[in-house]
Amino acid sequence: MPTSDTEPGSYFVSNYPPFDSWTQAGVADAQAAFDQGSPQNPPLGLYLHIPFCRKRCKFCYFRVYTDMPASDVERYSKALVAEAMLVAAKPAIAGRRLSYVYFGGGTPSFLSVRQLERLVEGLHESFGWEHAKEVTFECEPGTLSEPKLRALKALGVTRLSLGVENFDDAILSENGRAHLSAEIMKSWEWIQSIGFSNTNVDLIAGMVGETTESWHRTVERTLSLQADSVTIYQMELPLNTVYAKDLLQGTAQSSVADWQTKRSWVDWAFSRFIEAGYSISSAYTLVRDPTKVAFQYRDMLWQGSDLAALGVASFGHMSGVHYQNASHWDEYLAAVEGGVFPITRGLKPSQKQLLIRELVLGLKKGSVNIDRLEKKFGINPMQQWASQWMALQTEGYIESLGRCPTLSRRGLLEVDRLLPRFFETASTSFESLTPNELSVGE
Ligand SMILES: C[S@@+](CC[C@H](N)C(=O)[O-])C[C@H]1O[C@@H](n2cnc3c(N)ncnc32)[C@H](O)[C@@H]1O
Ligand code: SF4
Repeated sequence: MPTSDTEPGSYFVSNYPPFDSWTQAGVADAQAAFDQGSPQNPPLGLYLHIPFCRKRCKFCYFRVYTDMPASDVERYSKALVAEAMLVAAKPAIAGRRLSYVYFGGGTPSFLSVRQLERLVEGLHESFGWEHAKEVTFECEPGTLSEPKLRALKALGVTRLSLGVENFDDAILSENGRAHLSAEIMKSWEWIQSIGFSNTNVDLIAGMVGETTESWHRTVERTLSLQADSVTIYQMELPLNTVYAKDLLQGTAQSSVADWQTKRSWVDWAFSRFIEAGYSISSAYTLVRDPTKVAFQYRDMLWQGSDLAALGVASFGHMSGVHYQNASHWDEYLAAVEGGVFPITRGLKPSQKQLLIRELVLGLKKGSVNIDRLEKKFGINPMQQWASQWMALQTEGYIESLGRCPTLSRRGLLEVDRLLPRFFETASTSFESLTPNELSVGE
C-alpha cells in the first residue's frame, strides 16, 4: 500500500474493471455495440487524443510523441477525421447529438492554428458540436499564442484547461516541463482578455524538488489567477515514466515526496482555496463558483455516458462496453488508413461491474446517491458492501453514511487507494489498476 514512499507504480482509479482485464476477445463486443445501436440512449461524448508534446515530462505516463514533423501531425489529423467518419456512420452514433467534446493529450494546443482549423473542419463533416454543453481543450502554456487562443474560441471551445503544474522555474525544468512560469503568466493574460466560459488550471503536488515552502508559493500564485476550477493531482510514478525507470535502475538523482507529505500539501491547498471562496468538487478539484462550473465531461462519463474515443490509445465506452484503440502509432494509422476500426481491446462488463464503476467513480466526487444507483442497477450498494462501509467509517474515512454516504476530508485525500475495497477481487496490487497510458483525465 502506498502509505509512505512514492514507489514506481500507480494506483489512480480511472475506470472499472481495471484496464488489465480488457482483452482482444472483447473487441467483437465493442464492435457489436457500435453496430447495434444504443438502446438506452445516454448522453454521447466525443474524445480526441492529440498525442504530441514539445517535450516528454519526466513524470508523464500518457501516450505521447515528441519531435514529430509537421507531415506526421497532418497525417495523424487526417486519420482522426477518417476515424470520425467511420464512427459517425455506425448505428450507435448516427443521428445523435454530442453532449460534450474533449480534446485531450498529449497536448492538443501543440497544433498550429491552421492545423486546428483544418482538423475541426474535417471533424465537422461527421460531428457537429453546436449543441454540446461543453467543449474542453487541454493546453500546455508554452504552446499558446493570442491568435491560437482566439482561434480556439472561434472553434467553439468553452472550457480551457491549462497544465501549469507548478510556478517554480527550477522545479519545472527539473521535471522536464517545456514551459517556465513567465509563459504561464503570458498565456493567462491572453486567456483572460479573450474570455472563455470556463478555465481550469492543473497542478501536481509532489513534483521532484518540491518543498513545503515552494508548494505554498505555487498555491498562492494559482489563487491569484482566479481560475474557475483548479485540479490538483498527487504525483504518481507509473512504470513507463522516466522517473520510475530511473528509480528501478538505481540511477535516480532525487526522489518524490512520500504520500503523507503529498496529502498534507493537497490538504493545505484545499483549505487555502476554501478560505478564498472555492469549494471542493472532487478529490482533485476545487471550483470558484459551483453554480457556474459544471464538469459535464466528468459527470456524464462517470455516470455511464457513451464516449466515442478517437485517436491512438484512446479509451471509449459504447452501450455499456469498454474499448481501447490501438496503442501504437503504426498500428493505429494502418487500421484507420485502411478503413478499419482501430479497436484492439475491449470488455463487456456485467451489470454489477457497471454498478461498481459508477459507485467508485462517484466516490471520487466525495459522495454517492444510493437511491439513484439502486434504481439504476437493482442492487443496494449499502447492503452489498455493508462491511466495507462500516470499516471505512471505523477507520475515519467516512463523514456520514445513510442514503448519501460521504467521505471525510481524509477519505477524499486517500480515495484512490480505498476504492479497490469495492472491487470484485479486492486488490492491493496497485500497479495493476492502471495501464501504461491513460488518455482521460478530469
Ligand atoms: C494531458 S496533461 C495536460 C495537458 C498538457 N499535456 C500539459 O501537460 O500541460 C494532463 C495532466 O495530467 C497530470 N499528470 C501527468 N502525469 C502525472 C503524474 N505522473 N502524476 C500526477 N499527475 C500527472 C498533469 O497535471 C497534466 O496537466
Ligand atoms: S504532462 Fe502533458 S506536456 Fe508533459 S509529456 Fe505528458 S502530456 Fe505532454
